[in-house]
Amino acid sequence: MIRTGITGLGMSVPDQVLTNQDLEKMIDTSDEWIRARTGIVERRIVSDNQSTLDLCFEAGTEALQNAEIEARDLDLIIVATVTPDMVFPATACLLQDRLGAPAAAAFDLEAGCSGFVYGLITGAQFINSGAYSRIMVVGAETLSRITDWEDRNTCVLFGDGAGAVVLERVEKGGLLGFDLGSDGAGGSFLDLPAGGSRQPASQETVAQKLHYIRMDGNQVFKFAVKAMGQAALKALKKAGLSGEDIDLFIPHQANRRIIDAAGRKLGLPGEKVFVNLDRYGNTSGASIPLALYEAVAEGMVKSGDIVVLSGFGAGLSWAAAVLEWN
Ligand code: COA
Repeated sequence: MIRTGITGLGMSVPDQVLTNQDLEKMIDTSDEWIRARTGIVERRIVSDNQSTLDLCFEAGTEALQNAEIEARDLDLIIVATVTPDMVFPATACLLQDRLGAPAAAAFDLEAGCSGFVYGLITGAQFINSGAYSRIMVVGAETLSRITDWEDRNTCVLFGDGAGAVVLERVEKGGLLGFDLGSDGAGGSFLDLPAGGSRQPASQETVAQKLHYIRMDGNQVFKFAVKAMGQAALKALKKAGLSGEDIDLFIPHQANRRIIDAAGRKLGLPGEKVFVNLDRYGNTSGASIPLALYEAVAEGMVKSGDIVVLSGFGAGLSWAAAVLEWN
């Protein structure tokens, strides 16, 4: 049996920090409200000349160095994003060119905030089948570009960043189980309505602010509280494990209250739940690889540990993966 593991990690966040105090000057909100309702303190925002590709390139370059492989060794690049540089070509193709990975196939994957875990599991199938040996999966977003900075219901939540991993065949451990799912009936709770074939960009769509994130926060909250813990439990079951076996839970960083609810569902003490939401906000596809990177960098993951990743987001969608770290 072929096993797939993560052999390299990289991350990139923009230098510019936007604090809750900065937001107080922009909209009718308060640091106290944002901290209490979300757990977010600050987030990173790209500069005018930066794009999702730039963050992908920095995170991807570090992941290659960390895995000790060259870009030309890559067989496939998957970029999970809802903020590609353009509708087409895929940001993964632009990344393939910038990294110098001529042998790599490349495509973007759009599964909202579940995108990185969807990509990780998709990549693992190519390795497990024996088709490919080295795959890069990047979760990257510039959500600041699709945020309505006058909408206090959404703009306090989001931030920009990227996290990348290299997947390779490993001797032991690696991906032990996963759960993927979607509930398209809830699609309208979190969407960006215009700019596609349904409502092409026009002066009206711009005037009506239809190129920004729209969200029914309460509906998404209810879905998330259920989905994130449930997906993790299903993935654990497929791996023959349970909540007690988790050494570190790395949830999608959307809201502290959602994270705490998932941790309770899994029966985990606080120290087994990784949180960096306070510093980056919700970075959608980037959130889980950014958190994984920082957890490893902080020495919170040791060889043999069971690490569970779990995300939810637009679609609605969810995705969880159980990894034995080596
Ligand atoms: N600052 C101050 N007040 C705000 C505010 C802000 N930034 N945003 C909303 N409010 C107000 C609302 O207008 C409302 O006022 P009202 O009672 O006078 O109408 C009040 O705060 C409570 O709003 P409510 O929506 O009930 O708050 P909440 O506790 O449910 O928190 C979210 C709102 C958005 C933080 C929460 O619903 C959430 O996190 N949802 C999930 C979002 C998510 O994760 N999205 C990404 C998915 S990947």
